[in-house]
Amino acid sequence: PDEALRSLLLSRIRDVPDYPKPGVVFKDITPLLADPTAFNALVDALAALAARHGADKVVGLEARGFILAAPAAARAGLGFVPVRKAGKLPGATLAQAYELEYGTAEIEVHQDAFAVGDRVLVIDDVLATGGTAEASLQLLRRTGAQIAGVAVLLELGFLGGRARLGPALGGAPLEAL
Ligand code: PRP
Repeated sequence: PDEALRSLLLSRIRDVPDYPKPGVVFKDITPLLADPTAFNALVDALAALAARHGADKVVGLEARGFILAAPAAARAGLGFVPVRKAGKLPGATLAQAYELEYGTAEIEVHQDAFAVGDRVLVIDDVLATGGTAEASLQLLRRTGAQIAGVAVLLELGFLGGRARLGPALGGAPLEAL
């Protein structure tokens, strides 16, 4: 693990107490995105993970995952594929529903986004409960893609997302920078 990178990234993530509701401490990554040195280092690290894990494509999870995954894909010389919230993609899609704290959500990906056997690295900003990443992996497997790994900027370990994600990862790595 690169301690200098870890310190730099952590120093640019801002805690916002009581957002979006009382008692929750929101992890705000906008200071990191606004700092060219930190943002560039993050994109480099994500691109290196894509290469190390043999990815053919990079997937970003709406919305903040897009901000990280798209430049990482371009830097790694790979294509970018968005996993979107339901109703946003124009072509034929596959959909996956998942449970939220209250109610359910649904995400989609284009059916033709991958060649059979494509290895995909999934990138998001934060792993919290793991529900979003888990649903994404289930969705991506249904396209015929293989999971090269999941990479996040920040893992909130106390929420247990890593354990929840285990079965869906099926042995693929979860990297938290
Ligand atoms: C946040 C975050 C992850 C997800 C993590 O996205 O960007 O995608 O929640 O939570 P989980 O591990 O408990 O599923 P959010 O739903 O706020 O969407 P946004 O990026 O569009 O704001």
